[in-house]
Amino acid sequence: MNEQWSRGLEGVIATDTKISLVDGQNGRLIYRGYEANKLSLTSSFEEVCHLLWHGSLPDADQLIKFNEKFKQHRTLPPHIITILKALPAEMSMMSVIRTCVSALESPFFSWPPTVDQAIVVTAVIPVIITSRAAYLKKEEPVKPDPSLNHIANYLYMLHGKQPTDTHIKALTAYSILTMEHGMNASTFTSRVIASTESDLISSAAGAIGAMKGPLHGGAPSEVTQMLNEIETKEKAESWIKKKLENHEKLMGFGHRVYKTTDPRSEALKEMTKQLAGEDPWLDLAYYVEETALRLLDHYKPGRKLYTNVEFYAAAILKAVDLPAELFTPTFTASRMVGWTANIIEQSNNNRIFRPQSLYTGPVPFS
Ligand code: ACO
Repeated sequence: MNEQWSRGLEGVIATDTKISLVDGQNGRLIYRGYEANKLSLTSSFEEVCHLLWHGSLPDADQLIKFNEKFKQHRTLPPHIITILKALPAEMSMMSVIRTCVSALESPFFSWPPTVDQAIVVTAVIPVIITSRAAYLKKEEPVKPDPSLNHIANYLYMLHGKQPTDTHIKALTAYSILTMEHGMNASTFTSRVIASTESDLISSAAGAIGAMKGPLHGGAPSEVTQMLNEIETKEKAESWIKKKLENHEKLMGFGHRVYKTTDPRSEALKEMTKQLAGEDPWLDLAYYVEETALRLLDHYKPGRKLYTNVEFYAAAILKAVDLPAELFTPTFTASRMVGWTANIIEQSNNNRIFRPQSLYTGPVPFS
């Protein structure tokens, strides 16, 4: 048996893919040949879905049909509404999404996975989130608005009023930049399940379970908490110094793969400039970034620590009035696109995942 192994599969290539390239040395994220940064500022959510699922951006006719399909699936089946109302109030939104996605299963979702299946599950997640949020407040959910695209409709159903163009652009950029990111834990989970020829729903529900863990999907709300604790520019330097002297990590900084600026963080920072003036909290975020980078350079020289996607994701999500408990669910709503693209790609050239383990326990004495 080969005894070379890597804890956490770090550095191991588990599959080949045409979906995304995470270039950690050069700080680039590529979706099927396009810079994700540029797409996030110029494309709609639906256009990038088409790119990731089909491999090409849609032409005008394809986009019209594609947008229509998204709109057709903004209604919850009656049994999902019953489940949403019945689940205990203390259940987290991530568990609610995982349960409802699981309950979507029907013959329509049987193997092999398809783009039409991916559209249904992607289109319905914002409706699950906003309906659950409404039921928790003992209110009726806002009805979807068929004149709005996927992102605008999410904001509309969440807040019950037409979102501003700036908010739509900001959440679109965030959603596009978080759709897909190589072989991360949840995407790997989705591919492992798909490799057994299980259905798309089971693969997606498993991925949501992986995303729920604080080591994966949980950081943006911690960034908000950090900035709330820092409170003012005057307190930033001493707060950060204390953390670093106690050997604690600063939330929203550092990345396993990016050893230069996280390109997603750069694009989101650019987007926050359009929101500047709306929220004094953004001003604090810029100041904390600047101060933290200077202090990290002093306390952690040579470690190549920069802001990661979570830092400005927190700023964007807060600026569009999302409560912190919806940050990871909103990340899930966009990452569903990457998961389903990977599930489909896995099915097109499938081989079941079956790695080995290195046994380190006792053997029978003979
Ligand atoms: N604040 C302070 N120091 C840090 C930070 C940070 N955020 N991140 C890394 N370091 C330091 C470590 O203390 C370590 O220092 P040492 O050499 O003195 O021991 C060195 O940099 C290397 O750190 P590792 O933890 O080994 O780096 P790794 O690649 O394993 O970790 C991770 C990456 C988990 C993202 C880490 O940087 C971290 O915990 N950041 C804060 C949490 C966070 O923002 N998570 C979101 C990540 S993005 C995403 O998941 C979508």
